[in-house]
Amino acid sequence: MTLAFREALAALEAHRHEIAHRSMRDLFADDPQRFPRLTARLDDLLFDYSKQPVTDVTMAHLIALARAARLEDKRDRFLAGETVNTTEGRPAMHMALRDLSRRPIMIGGADMRAAIEAERARCAGFADELRSGRARGASGKPIRAVVNIGIGGSDLGPAMAVRALSPFATSGLVSRFVSNVDGADLADALNGLDPGETLFIVSSKTFTTLETMTNARSARAWIVAALGEAAAPAHFAAVSTNLPASAAFGVRPDRVFGFWDWVGGRYSMWSSIGLPLMIAIGPAAFEAFLAGGHEVDRHFATAPAIDNIPMLMALIGVWHRNVWGRATQAVIPYDQRLARFPAYLQQLDMESNGKSVTHAGAAATIATAPIVWGEPGTNGQHAFFQLLHQGTEIVPVDFLVAAEPIAADKAHHDLLVANCLAQGEALMRGRTRDEAAEGLSAQGLPEAEVERLAPHKTFAGNRPSSTLFYRRLDPRMLGRLVALYEHKVFAQAAIWDINAFDQWGVELGKELATRLAPIVADPAAKTDALDASTAGLIAWRRRLVGGA
Ligand code: F6P
Repeated sequence: MTLAFREALAALEAHRHEIAHRSMRDLFADDPQRFPRLTARLDDLLFDYSKQPVTDVTMAHLIALARAARLEDKRDRFLAGETVNTTEGRPAMHMALRDLSRRPIMIGGADMRAAIEAERARCAGFADELRSGRARGASGKPIRAVVNIGIGGSDLGPAMAVRALSPFATSGLVSRFVSNVDGADLADALNGLDPGETLFIVSSKTFTTLETMTNARSARAWIVAALGEAAAPAHFAAVSTNLPASAAFGVRPDRVFGFWDWVGGRYSMWSSIGLPLMIAIGPAAFEAFLAGGHEVDRHFATAPAIDNIPMLMALIGVWHRNVWGRATQAVIPYDQRLARFPAYLQQLDMESNGKSVTHAGAAATIATAPIVWGEPGTNGQHAFFQLLHQGTEIVPVDFLVAAEPIAADKAHHDLLVANCLAQGEALMRGRTRDEAAEGLSAQGLPEAEVERLAPHKTFAGNRPSSTLFYRRLDPRMLGRLVALYEHKVFAQAAIWDINAFDQWGVELGKELATRLAPIVADPAAKTDALDASTAGLIAWRRRLVGGA
Protein backbone atom coordinates (compact mmCIF):
# COMPACT_ATOMS: atom_id res chain seq x y z
CA MET A 1 0.00 0.00 0.00
CA THR A 2 1.55 3.29 -1.04
CA LEU A 3 1.79 6.31 1.22
CA ALA A 4 -0.64 8.20 -1.03
CA PHE A 5 -3.15 5.35 -0.74
CA ARG A 6 -2.75 5.17 3.04
CA GLU A 7 -3.30 8.91 3.30
CA ALA A 8 -6.39 8.79 1.07
CA LEU A 9 -7.79 5.95 3.17
CA ALA A 10 -7.06 7.84 6.40
CA ALA A 11 -8.86 10.88 4.98
CA LEU A 12 -11.88 8.69 4.26
CA GLU A 13 -11.78 7.29 7.82
CA ALA A 14 -11.74 10.81 9.23
CA HIS A 15 -14.56 11.82 6.91
CA ARG A 16 -16.64 8.88 8.10
CA HIS A 17 -16.55 10.30 11.62
CA GLU A 18 -17.66 13.66 10.27
CA ILE A 19 -20.74 12.32 8.52
CA ALA A 20 -21.60 9.30 10.70
CA HIS A 21 -24.15 11.30 12.69
CA ARG A 22 -25.91 12.66 9.58
CA SER A 23 -29.05 10.85 8.59
CA MET A 24 -29.89 10.36 4.95
CA ARG A 25 -33.27 11.91 5.65
CA ASP A 26 -31.44 15.09 6.60
CA LEU A 27 -29.11 14.86 3.61
CA PHE A 28 -32.14 14.73 1.31
CA ALA A 29 -33.95 17.47 3.21
CA ASP A 30 -30.91 19.77 3.08
CA ASP A 31 -30.23 19.31 -0.61
CA PRO A 32 -33.01 19.31 -3.20
CA GLN A 33 -30.41 18.51 -5.87
CA ARG A 34 -29.20 15.37 -4.13
CA PHE A 35 -30.96 12.95 -6.49
CA PRO A 36 -29.84 14.57 -9.77
CA ARG A 37 -26.30 14.96 -8.47
CA LEU A 38 -25.92 11.47 -7.04
CA THR A 39 -27.13 9.63 -10.10
CA ALA A 40 -25.24 8.64 -13.24
CA ARG A 41 -26.69 7.65 -16.59
CA LEU A 42 -25.78 5.57 -19.56
CA ASP A 43 -28.73 6.72 -21.75
CA ASP A 44 -31.68 4.52 -20.69
CA LEU A 45 -29.87 3.04 -17.69
CA LEU A 46 -29.80 5.06 -14.48
CA PHE A 47 -27.58 4.38 -11.49
CA ASP A 48 -28.99 6.03 -8.38
CA TYR A 49 -26.66 6.15 -5.40
CA SER A 50 -28.38 9.01 -3.61
CA LYS A 51 -29.54 6.56 -0.92
CA GLN A 52 -25.93 5.80 -0.04
CA PRO A 53 -24.31 7.48 2.98
CA VAL A 54 -22.29 9.83 0.79
CA THR A 55 -21.97 13.54 0.10
CA ASP A 56 -19.99 15.39 -2.56
CA VAL A 57 -17.11 15.45 -0.11
CA THR A 58 -17.28 11.67 0.29
CA MET A 59 -17.21 11.22 -3.46
CA ALA A 60 -14.22 13.53 -3.75
CA HIS A 61 -12.38 11.49 -1.10
CA LEU A 62 -13.27 8.22 -2.85
CA ILE A 63 -12.07 9.53 -6.19
CA ALA A 64 -8.85 10.65 -4.50
CA LEU A 65 -8.44 7.10 -3.21
CA ALA A 66 -8.96 5.77 -6.74
CA ARG A 67 -6.30 8.20 -8.00
CA ALA A 68 -3.91 7.09 -5.27
CA ALA A 69 -4.49 3.50 -6.42
CA ARG A 70 -3.87 4.65 -10.04
CA LEU A 71 -7.20 3.16 -11.04
CA GLU A 72 -7.50 4.97 -14.36
CA ASP A 73 -3.99 4.00 -15.38
CA LYS A 74 -4.64 0.35 -14.43
CA ARG A 75 -7.94 0.45 -16.34
CA ASP A 76 -6.19 1.73 -19.45
CA ARG A 77 -3.54 -0.97 -19.26
CA PHE A 78 -6.21 -3.65 -18.70
CA LEU A 79 -8.27 -2.45 -21.69
CA ALA A 80 -5.12 -2.27 -23.83
CA GLY A 81 -4.50 -5.99 -23.27
CA GLU A 82 -1.53 -5.82 -20.91
CA THR A 83 -0.70 -8.84 -18.75
CA VAL A 84 -2.99 -8.04 -15.83
CA ASN A 85 -3.26 -11.70 -14.78
CA THR A 86 0.27 -11.75 -13.48
CA THR A 87 0.26 -15.18 -11.81
CA GLU A 88 -0.83 -16.87 -15.04
CA GLY A 89 1.12 -14.49 -17.27
CA ARG A 90 -1.71 -13.35 -19.55
CA PRO A 91 -4.08 -10.51 -20.28
CA ALA A 92 -7.80 -10.63 -19.47
CA MET A 93 -9.39 -9.63 -22.74
CA HIS A 94 -13.01 -10.79 -22.62
CA MET A 95 -13.89 -7.25 -23.82
CA ALA A 96 -12.40 -8.22 -27.20
CA LEU A 97 -15.20 -10.74 -27.69
CA ARG A 98 -17.88 -8.05 -27.59
CA ASP A 99 -16.07 -5.41 -29.59
CA LEU A 100 -18.21 -5.30 -32.74
CA SER A 101 -16.34 -2.34 -34.24
CA ARG A 102 -13.99 -2.81 -37.18
CA ARG A 103 -10.82 -1.80 -35.40
CA PRO A 104 -8.00 -4.32 -34.85
CA ILE A 105 -7.98 -6.21 -31.56
CA MET A 106 -4.36 -6.56 -30.54
CA ILE A 107 -3.64 -9.32 -28.04
CA GLY A 108 -0.11 -10.58 -27.49
CA GLY A 109 1.07 -8.64 -30.54
CA ALA A 110 -1.45 -10.22 -32.95
CA ASP A 111 -4.73 -8.89 -34.33
CA MET A 112 -7.33 -11.35 -33.03
CA ARG A 113 -10.39 -9.82 -34.72
CA ALA A 114 -10.60 -12.30 -37.60
CA ALA A 115 -10.18 -15.32 -35.31
CA ILE A 116 -12.82 -14.04 -32.86
CA GLU A 117 -15.29 -13.33 -35.64
CA ALA A 118 -14.62 -16.66 -37.32
CA GLU A 119 -15.32 -18.59 -34.13
CA ARG A 120 -18.47 -16.57 -33.49
CA ALA A 121 -19.59 -17.26 -37.07
CA ARG A 122 -19.02 -21.01 -36.54
CA CYS A 123 -21.17 -20.85 -33.40
CA ALA A 124 -23.83 -18.90 -35.30
CA GLY A 125 -23.84 -21.47 -38.09
CA PHE A 126 -24.34 -24.29 -35.62
CA ALA A 127 -26.99 -22.29 -33.72
CA ASP A 128 -28.88 -21.73 -36.98
CA GLU A 129 -28.63 -25.42 -37.85
CA LEU A 130 -30.25 -26.30 -34.53
CA ARG A 131 -32.80 -23.50 -34.56
CA SER A 132 -33.99 -24.37 -38.06
CA GLY A 133 -34.38 -28.06 -37.25
CA ARG A 134 -31.68 -29.00 -39.77
CA ALA A 135 -29.51 -30.57 -37.08
CA ARG A 136 -30.60 -34.16 -36.65
CA GLY A 137 -29.78 -36.89 -34.19
CA ALA A 138 -28.34 -40.26 -35.22
CA SER A 139 -31.78 -41.73 -35.81
CA GLY A 140 -32.79 -38.86 -38.10
CA LYS A 141 -35.01 -37.02 -35.61
CA PRO A 142 -34.54 -33.25 -35.34
CA ILE A 143 -32.77 -32.06 -32.21
CA ARG A 144 -35.34 -30.58 -29.84
CA ALA A 145 -33.40 -30.27 -26.58
CA VAL A 146 -29.99 -28.75 -25.85
CA VAL A 147 -28.37 -29.72 -22.55
CA ASN A 148 -25.32 -27.73 -21.47
CA ILE A 149 -22.91 -29.62 -19.24
CA GLY A 150 -20.50 -27.30 -17.46
CA ILE A 151 -19.81 -25.71 -14.09
CA GLY A 152 -18.74 -22.35 -12.69
CA GLY A 153 -18.04 -19.98 -15.55
CA SER A 154 -19.01 -22.67 -18.04
CA ASP A 155 -22.50 -22.80 -16.59
CA LEU A 156 -23.51 -19.81 -14.46
CA GLY A 157 -23.37 -17.14 -17.17
CA PRO A 158 -25.25 -18.99 -19.93
CA ALA A 159 -27.74 -20.50 -17.45
CA MET A 160 -28.42 -17.08 -15.93
CA ALA A 161 -28.74 -15.42 -19.35
CA VAL A 162 -30.94 -18.07 -20.97
CA ARG A 163 -33.36 -17.64 -18.09
CA ALA A 164 -33.10 -13.85 -18.08
CA LEU A 165 -33.84 -13.65 -21.79
CA SER A 166 -36.43 -16.40 -22.01
CA PRO A 167 -38.97 -14.11 -23.74
CA PHE A 168 -36.42 -13.70 -26.55
CA ALA A 169 -35.99 -17.46 -27.00
CA THR A 170 -37.22 -18.05 -30.50
CA SER A 171 -35.72 -21.46 -31.19
CA GLY A 172 -38.51 -23.65 -29.86
CA LEU A 173 -35.75 -25.84 -28.41
CA VAL A 174 -35.73 -26.99 -24.80
CA SER A 175 -32.72 -25.55 -22.96
CA ARG A 176 -31.33 -27.28 -19.86
CA PHE A 177 -28.20 -26.97 -17.75
CA VAL A 178 -26.35 -29.59 -15.74
CA SER A 179 -23.53 -28.54 -13.45
CA ASN A 180 -23.45 -30.54 -10.23
CA VAL A 181 -21.64 -33.86 -9.96
CA ASP A 182 -24.64 -34.90 -7.86
CA GLY A 183 -26.23 -37.39 -10.25
CA ALA A 184 -29.61 -35.94 -9.36
CA ASP A 185 -28.77 -32.88 -11.45
CA LEU A 186 -28.23 -34.88 -14.64
CA ALA A 187 -31.15 -37.19 -13.90
CA ASP A 188 -33.51 -34.23 -13.43
CA ALA A 189 -32.20 -32.50 -16.56
CA LEU A 190 -32.76 -35.63 -18.65
CA ASN A 191 -36.21 -36.23 -17.27
CA GLY A 192 -38.71 -36.32 -20.12
CA LEU A 193 -36.10 -35.94 -22.86
CA ASP A 194 -35.83 -38.27 -25.81
CA PRO A 195 -32.17 -39.29 -26.40
CA GLY A 196 -32.79 -39.26 -30.15
CA GLU A 197 -33.73 -35.57 -29.98
CA THR A 198 -31.13 -34.38 -27.44
CA LEU A 199 -27.85 -32.61 -28.03
CA PHE A 200 -25.29 -32.14 -25.25
CA ILE A 201 -22.83 -29.26 -25.22
CA VAL A 202 -19.88 -30.14 -23.02
CA SER A 203 -18.60 -26.73 -21.90
CA SER A 204 -15.29 -26.63 -20.14
CA LYS A 205 -12.39 -24.27 -20.66
CA THR A 206 -9.95 -26.93 -19.49
CA PHE A 207 -11.98 -30.03 -20.43
CA THR A 208 -10.62 -31.65 -17.26
CA THR A 209 -13.08 -30.46 -14.61
CA LEU A 210 -14.18 -33.47 -12.56
CA GLU A 211 -17.87 -32.58 -12.39
CA THR A 212 -18.19 -31.77 -16.07
CA MET A 213 -16.27 -34.78 -17.30
CA THR A 214 -18.24 -37.11 -15.01
CA ASN A 215 -21.54 -35.69 -16.25
CA ALA A 216 -20.36 -35.78 -19.85
CA ARG A 217 -19.44 -39.47 -19.58
CA SER A 218 -22.82 -40.29 -18.00
CA ALA A 219 -24.62 -38.32 -20.71
CA ARG A 220 -22.69 -40.23 -23.33
CA ALA A 221 -23.66 -43.53 -21.66
CA TRP A 222 -27.31 -42.40 -21.75
CA ILE A 223 -27.10 -41.77 -25.49
CA VAL A 224 -25.22 -45.02 -26.15
CA ALA A 225 -27.68 -47.07 -24.07
CA ALA A 226 -30.58 -45.73 -26.14
CA LEU A 227 -29.08 -45.36 -29.60
CA GLY A 228 -25.84 -47.34 -29.71
CA GLU A 229 -22.16 -46.43 -29.71
CA ALA A 230 -22.08 -45.06 -33.25
CA ALA A 231 -24.80 -42.54 -32.40
CA ALA A 232 -22.78 -40.54 -29.86
CA PRO A 233 -21.05 -38.03 -32.21
CA ALA A 234 -24.38 -36.79 -33.56
CA HIS A 235 -25.45 -35.85 -30.02
CA PHE A 236 -22.44 -33.98 -28.73
CA ALA A 237 -20.78 -30.64 -29.22
CA ALA A 238 -18.04 -29.11 -27.09
CA VAL A 239 -16.81 -25.68 -26.08
CA SER A 240 -13.26 -25.57 -24.81
CA THR A 241 -9.77 -24.17 -25.13
CA ASN A 242 -8.49 -27.76 -24.86
CA LEU A 243 -9.16 -29.05 -28.36
CA PRO A 244 -7.18 -32.34 -28.05
CA ALA A 245 -9.16 -33.36 -24.94
CA SER A 246 -12.50 -32.64 -26.60
CA ALA A 247 -11.41 -34.65 -29.64
CA ALA A 248 -10.35 -37.51 -27.34
CA PHE A 249 -13.85 -37.45 -25.84
CA GLY A 250 -15.17 -38.15 -29.33
CA VAL A 251 -16.64 -34.80 -30.32
CA ARG A 252 -16.58 -34.17 -34.08
CA PRO A 253 -14.03 -31.42 -34.91
CA ASP A 254 -16.71 -29.34 -36.65
CA ARG A 255 -18.70 -29.38 -33.42
CA VAL A 256 -15.89 -28.16 -31.18
CA PHE A 257 -16.02 -24.42 -30.56
CA GLY A 258 -12.95 -22.78 -29.13
CA PHE A 259 -11.92 -19.72 -27.23
CA TRP A 260 -8.67 -18.43 -25.80
CA ASP A 261 -6.72 -18.60 -22.57
CA TRP A 262 -7.01 -14.81 -22.21
CA VAL A 263 -10.72 -15.32 -21.47
CA GLY A 264 -11.21 -16.19 -17.81
CA GLY A 265 -13.85 -18.83 -17.03
CA ARG A 266 -16.13 -16.41 -15.14
CA TYR A 267 -15.76 -13.84 -17.94
CA SER A 268 -16.40 -16.30 -20.75
CA MET A 269 -20.09 -16.04 -21.57
CA TRP A 270 -19.21 -13.61 -24.38
CA SER A 271 -17.22 -16.37 -26.09
CA SER A 272 -18.33 -19.74 -27.48
CA ILE A 273 -19.31 -20.52 -23.88
CA GLY A 274 -22.36 -18.37 -24.69
CA LEU A 275 -23.43 -20.95 -27.32
CA PRO A 276 -26.53 -22.12 -25.35
CA LEU A 277 -27.67 -18.48 -25.19
CA MET A 278 -26.97 -17.97 -28.89
CA ILE A 279 -28.96 -21.10 -29.69
CA ALA A 280 -31.87 -19.94 -27.54
CA ILE A 281 -32.13 -16.30 -28.67
CA GLY A 282 -30.43 -16.50 -32.07
CA PRO A 283 -27.15 -15.02 -33.34
CA ALA A 284 -28.61 -11.54 -33.97
CA ALA A 285 -29.96 -11.16 -30.44
CA PHE A 286 -26.68 -12.59 -29.11
CA GLU A 287 -24.89 -9.77 -30.97
CA ALA A 288 -27.20 -7.28 -29.24
CA PHE A 289 -26.08 -8.81 -25.93
CA LEU A 290 -22.44 -8.34 -26.99
CA ALA A 291 -23.17 -4.78 -28.12
CA GLY A 292 -24.61 -3.95 -24.68
CA GLY A 293 -21.40 -5.18 -23.05
CA HIS A 294 -19.30 -3.16 -25.50
CA GLU A 295 -21.24 0.02 -24.73
CA VAL A 296 -20.25 -0.39 -21.11
CA ASP A 297 -16.62 -0.98 -22.09
CA ARG A 298 -16.60 2.37 -23.89
CA HIS A 299 -18.30 4.06 -20.96
CA PHE A 300 -15.82 2.53 -18.49
CA ALA A 301 -12.92 3.59 -20.71
CA THR A 302 -13.97 7.18 -21.21
CA ALA A 303 -16.41 8.52 -18.60
CA PRO A 304 -14.89 10.69 -15.89
CA ALA A 305 -14.89 8.95 -12.50
CA ILE A 306 -17.89 10.88 -11.14
CA ASP A 307 -20.03 9.75 -14.12
CA ASN A 308 -18.48 6.33 -14.55
CA ILE A 309 -21.03 3.80 -13.31
CA PRO A 310 -18.71 0.80 -12.72
CA MET A 311 -16.22 3.08 -10.96
CA LEU A 312 -18.97 4.55 -8.80
CA MET A 313 -20.23 1.07 -7.94
CA ALA A 314 -16.69 0.04 -7.05
CA LEU A 315 -15.99 3.13 -4.95
CA ILE A 316 -19.23 2.83 -3.00
CA GLY A 317 -18.37 -0.82 -2.38
CA VAL A 318 -14.92 0.20 -1.12
CA TRP A 319 -16.53 2.83 1.13
CA HIS A 320 -18.65 0.13 2.76
CA ARG A 321 -16.05 -2.62 2.82
CA ASN A 322 -12.93 -0.74 3.84
CA VAL A 323 -14.21 2.24 5.77
CA TRP A 324 -17.44 1.04 7.40
CA GLY A 325 -16.27 -2.57 7.68
CA ARG A 326 -19.36 -4.05 6.04
CA ALA A 327 -18.77 -7.64 5.06
CA THR A 328 -21.62 -8.41 2.72
CA GLN A 329 -23.30 -6.97 -0.36
CA ALA A 330 -26.83 -7.94 -1.32
CA VAL A 331 -27.99 -7.87 -4.94
CA ILE A 332 -31.76 -7.89 -5.27
CA PRO A 333 -33.15 -7.91 -8.81
CA TYR A 334 -36.81 -7.00 -8.94
CA ASP A 335 -36.99 -9.27 -11.91
CA GLN A 336 -37.84 -12.94 -11.54
CA ARG A 337 -35.98 -13.75 -14.75
CA LEU A 338 -32.78 -12.48 -13.09
CA ALA A 339 -33.19 -15.13 -10.39
CA ARG A 340 -29.74 -16.57 -11.15
CA PHE A 341 -28.03 -13.17 -11.42
CA PRO A 342 -26.91 -13.12 -7.76
CA ALA A 343 -25.43 -16.63 -8.13
CA TYR A 344 -23.67 -15.51 -11.30
CA LEU A 345 -22.29 -12.46 -9.47
CA GLN A 346 -21.09 -14.62 -6.61
CA GLN A 347 -18.60 -16.31 -8.90
CA LEU A 348 -17.76 -13.10 -10.73
CA ASP A 349 -17.06 -11.12 -7.57
CA MET A 350 -15.98 -13.68 -4.98
CA GLU A 351 -13.84 -15.89 -7.23
CA SER A 352 -12.24 -12.78 -8.73
CA ASN A 353 -11.63 -10.73 -5.61
CA GLY A 354 -11.75 -13.26 -2.79
CA LYS A 355 -8.00 -12.81 -2.37
CA SER A 356 -5.70 -12.02 0.53
CA VAL A 357 -2.44 -11.54 -1.37
CA THR A 358 -1.48 -8.46 -3.38
CA HIS A 359 0.00 -8.50 -6.89
CA ALA A 360 3.44 -8.44 -5.31
CA GLY A 361 2.67 -11.49 -3.16
CA ALA A 362 2.39 -9.59 0.13
CA ALA A 363 -0.47 -10.16 2.56
CA ALA A 364 -3.33 -7.79 1.77
CA THR A 365 -3.67 -5.28 4.57
CA ILE A 366 -7.22 -4.21 3.78
CA ALA A 367 -10.38 -6.21 3.33
CA THR A 368 -11.13 -7.44 -0.20
CA ALA A 369 -14.30 -8.91 -1.77
CA PRO A 370 -17.50 -8.79 0.22
CA ILE A 371 -19.79 -11.78 0.50
CA VAL A 372 -22.24 -11.31 -2.36
CA TRP A 373 -25.70 -12.73 -1.99
CA GLY A 374 -29.27 -12.14 -3.01
CA GLU A 375 -32.58 -13.32 -4.33
CA PRO A 376 -35.21 -11.67 -6.45
CA GLY A 377 -37.56 -9.16 -4.91
CA THR A 378 -40.40 -9.29 -3.98
CA ASN A 379 -39.72 -12.82 -2.68
CA GLY A 380 -36.78 -11.67 -0.58
CA GLN A 381 -39.06 -9.21 1.19
CA HIS A 382 -40.91 -12.14 2.69
CA ALA A 383 -37.73 -13.94 3.70
CA PHE A 384 -34.63 -12.00 4.75
CA PHE A 385 -35.59 -8.34 4.40
CA GLN A 386 -36.48 -8.17 8.10
CA LEU A 387 -32.75 -8.35 8.82
CA LEU A 388 -32.01 -5.67 6.23
CA HIS A 389 -34.48 -3.33 7.92
CA GLN A 390 -33.96 -4.03 11.61
CA GLY A 391 -31.07 -6.46 12.04
CA THR A 392 -27.81 -5.54 13.76
CA GLU A 393 -25.84 -6.08 10.53
CA ILE A 394 -25.92 -3.27 7.96
CA VAL A 395 -26.10 -4.74 4.46
CA PRO A 396 -25.56 -2.49 1.43
CA VAL A 397 -28.07 -3.43 -1.26
CA ASP A 398 -28.07 -3.12 -5.05
CA PHE A 399 -31.59 -3.07 -6.45
CA LEU A 400 -32.12 -3.82 -10.14
CA VAL A 401 -35.40 -3.05 -11.82
CA ALA A 402 -36.82 -2.46 -15.31
CA ALA A 403 -39.24 0.36 -16.07
CA GLU A 404 -41.35 -1.87 -18.27
CA PRO A 405 -41.93 -5.62 -18.37
CA ILE A 406 -41.28 -7.98 -21.23
CA ALA A 407 -44.17 -10.28 -21.90
CA ALA A 408 -45.74 -9.68 -18.51
CA ASP A 409 -48.75 -7.90 -17.16
CA LYS A 410 -48.37 -4.12 -16.65
CA ALA A 411 -50.36 -4.10 -13.41
CA HIS A 412 -48.04 -6.73 -11.95
CA HIS A 413 -45.06 -4.72 -13.08
CA ASP A 414 -46.35 -1.52 -11.52
CA LEU A 415 -46.57 -3.37 -8.21
CA LEU A 416 -43.09 -4.80 -8.70
CA VAL A 417 -41.60 -1.35 -9.29
CA ALA A 418 -43.56 0.11 -6.36
CA ASN A 419 -42.19 -2.59 -4.08
CA CYS A 420 -38.63 -2.05 -5.23
CA LEU A 421 -38.82 1.69 -4.66
CA ALA A 422 -40.62 1.23 -1.34
CA GLN A 423 -37.87 -1.02 0.00
CA GLY A 424 -35.16 1.48 -0.88
CA GLU A 425 -37.18 4.26 0.69
CA ALA A 426 -37.93 2.27 3.85
CA LEU A 427 -34.27 1.30 4.26
CA MET A 428 -33.22 4.90 3.87
CA ARG A 429 -35.94 6.66 5.90
CA GLY A 430 -36.66 4.11 8.57
CA ARG A 431 -39.28 5.11 11.12
CA THR A 432 -38.48 7.15 14.21
CA ARG A 433 -39.77 6.20 17.62
CA ASP A 434 -42.09 9.22 17.57
CA GLU A 435 -43.50 8.23 14.21
CA ALA A 436 -44.02 4.69 15.48
CA ALA A 437 -45.75 5.97 18.64
CA GLU A 438 -47.92 8.32 16.62
CA GLY A 439 -49.09 5.48 14.37
CA LEU A 440 -49.91 3.28 17.36
CA SER A 441 -51.79 6.10 19.11
CA ALA A 442 -53.77 6.71 15.94
CA GLN A 443 -54.94 3.10 16.18
CA GLY A 444 -56.46 4.01 19.57
CA LEU A 445 -54.05 1.94 21.67
CA PRO A 446 -53.65 2.84 25.34
CA GLU A 447 -50.53 4.83 26.23
CA ALA A 448 -48.85 1.89 28.00
CA GLU A 449 -49.34 -0.29 24.94
CA VAL A 450 -47.94 2.46 22.70
CA GLU A 451 -44.85 2.64 24.94
CA ARG A 452 -44.44 -1.13 24.90
CA LEU A 453 -44.76 -1.56 21.14
CA ALA A 454 -43.06 1.57 19.85
CA PRO A 455 -39.45 0.26 20.12
CA HIS A 456 -40.38 -2.81 18.07
CA LYS A 457 -41.91 -0.65 15.35
CA THR A 458 -38.96 1.74 15.20
CA PHE A 459 -36.58 1.37 12.25
CA ALA A 460 -33.19 3.04 12.43
CA GLY A 461 -33.19 3.82 8.70
CA ASN A 462 -30.00 5.12 7.09
CA ARG A 463 -29.53 1.71 5.49
CA PRO A 464 -27.69 2.02 2.19
CA SER A 465 -28.90 1.03 -1.24
CA SER A 466 -28.21 1.80 -4.89
CA THR A 467 -30.67 1.26 -7.71
CA LEU A 468 -29.93 0.28 -11.30
CA PHE A 469 -33.09 1.34 -13.14
CA TYR A 470 -33.27 0.52 -16.85
CA ARG A 471 -35.90 0.51 -19.56
CA ARG A 472 -36.32 -3.23 -20.12
CA LEU A 473 -34.41 -6.45 -19.70
CA ASP A 474 -33.56 -7.20 -23.32
CA PRO A 475 -30.35 -8.78 -24.66
CA ARG A 476 -28.58 -5.43 -24.92
CA MET A 477 -29.47 -4.47 -21.36
CA LEU A 478 -28.41 -7.82 -19.96
CA GLY A 479 -25.05 -7.34 -21.70
CA ARG A 480 -24.77 -3.96 -20.05
CA LEU A 481 -25.61 -5.24 -16.58
CA VAL A 482 -23.06 -8.06 -16.78
CA ALA A 483 -20.33 -5.75 -18.08
CA LEU A 484 -21.07 -3.15 -15.40
CA TYR A 485 -20.47 -5.70 -12.67
CA GLU A 486 -17.40 -7.11 -14.44
CA HIS A 487 -15.81 -3.66 -14.49
CA LYS A 488 -16.90 -2.91 -10.93
CA VAL A 489 -15.03 -6.06 -9.90
CA PHE A 490 -11.98 -5.03 -11.93
CA ALA A 491 -11.98 -1.52 -10.44
CA GLN A 492 -12.12 -2.88 -6.90
CA ALA A 493 -9.29 -5.31 -7.63
CA ALA A 494 -7.26 -2.37 -8.95
CA ILE A 495 -7.92 -0.39 -5.77
CA TRP A 496 -7.05 -3.38 -3.58
CA ASP A 497 -3.99 -4.20 -5.73
CA ILE A 498 -5.05 -7.84 -6.18
CA ASN A 499 -5.28 -10.10 -9.23
CA ALA A 500 -8.95 -10.50 -10.20
CA PHE A 501 -8.19 -13.09 -12.85
CA ASP A 502 -6.70 -16.09 -11.06
CA GLN A 503 -8.38 -18.50 -8.61
CA TRP A 504 -5.73 -20.54 -6.86
CA GLY A 505 -7.92 -21.01 -3.79
CA VAL A 506 -10.28 -23.24 -5.73
CA GLU A 507 -7.47 -25.54 -6.77
CA LEU A 508 -6.76 -27.02 -3.33
CA GLY A 509 -10.34 -28.25 -2.95
CA LYS A 510 -10.16 -29.78 -6.43
CA GLU A 511 -6.88 -31.57 -5.60
CA LEU A 512 -8.20 -32.96 -2.34
CA ALA A 513 -11.45 -34.15 -3.94
CA THR A 514 -9.42 -36.00 -6.56
CA ARG A 515 -7.34 -37.63 -3.80
CA LEU A 516 -10.39 -38.58 -1.73
CA ALA A 517 -12.55 -39.89 -4.59
CA PRO A 518 -10.99 -43.40 -4.72
CA ILE A 519 -11.00 -43.67 -0.93
CA VAL A 520 -14.69 -42.78 -0.78
CA ALA A 521 -15.53 -45.20 -3.59
CA ASP A 522 -13.60 -48.17 -2.16
CA PRO A 523 -14.88 -49.40 1.23
CA ALA A 524 -11.57 -51.19 1.84
CA ALA A 525 -9.35 -48.18 1.14
CA LYS A 526 -7.16 -47.10 4.04
CA THR A 527 -7.93 -43.77 5.71
CA ASP A 528 -5.05 -43.58 8.22
CA ALA A 529 -3.21 -40.89 6.27
CA LEU A 530 -6.22 -38.58 6.56
CA ASP A 531 -7.01 -36.16 9.36
CA ALA A 532 -9.20 -37.63 12.09
CA SER A 533 -12.32 -35.75 11.09
CA THR A 534 -12.17 -36.72 7.43
CA ALA A 535 -11.36 -40.34 8.33
CA GLY A 536 -14.19 -40.36 10.88
CA LEU A 537 -16.69 -39.02 8.37
CA ILE A 538 -15.66 -41.64 5.80
CA ALA A 539 -16.07 -44.37 8.43
CA TRP A 540 -19.52 -43.00 9.30
CA ARG A 541 -20.52 -43.02 5.64
CA ARG A 542 -19.28 -46.61 5.29
CA ARG A 543 -21.48 -47.57 8.25
CA LEU A 544 -24.52 -45.88 6.71
CA VAL A 545 -24.14 -47.53 3.33
CA GLY A 546 -23.14 -50.87 4.84
CA GLY A 547 -19.62 -50.78 3.48
CA ALA A 548 -17.89 -51.56 6.82
O1 F6P B 1 -14.36 -23.20 -9.91
C1 F6P B 1 -13.08 -23.15 -10.43
C2 F6P B 1 -13.10 -23.05 -11.91
O2 F6P B 1 -11.80 -23.18 -12.34
C3 F6P B 1 -13.75 -21.77 -12.42
O3 F6P B 1 -12.88 -20.72 -12.45
C4 F6P B 1 -14.25 -22.20 -13.74
O4 F6P B 1 -15.20 -21.32 -14.24
C5 F6P B 1 -14.80 -23.57 -13.41
O5 F6P B 1 -13.86 -24.11 -12.50
C6 F6P B 1 -14.98 -24.49 -14.58
O6 F6P B 1 -13.80 -24.71 -15.26
P1 F6P B 1 -13.80 -25.34 -16.71
O7 F6P B 1 -14.52 -24.43 -17.61
O8 F6P B 1 -12.36 -25.48 -17.07
O9 F6P B 1 -14.50 -26.67 -16.62
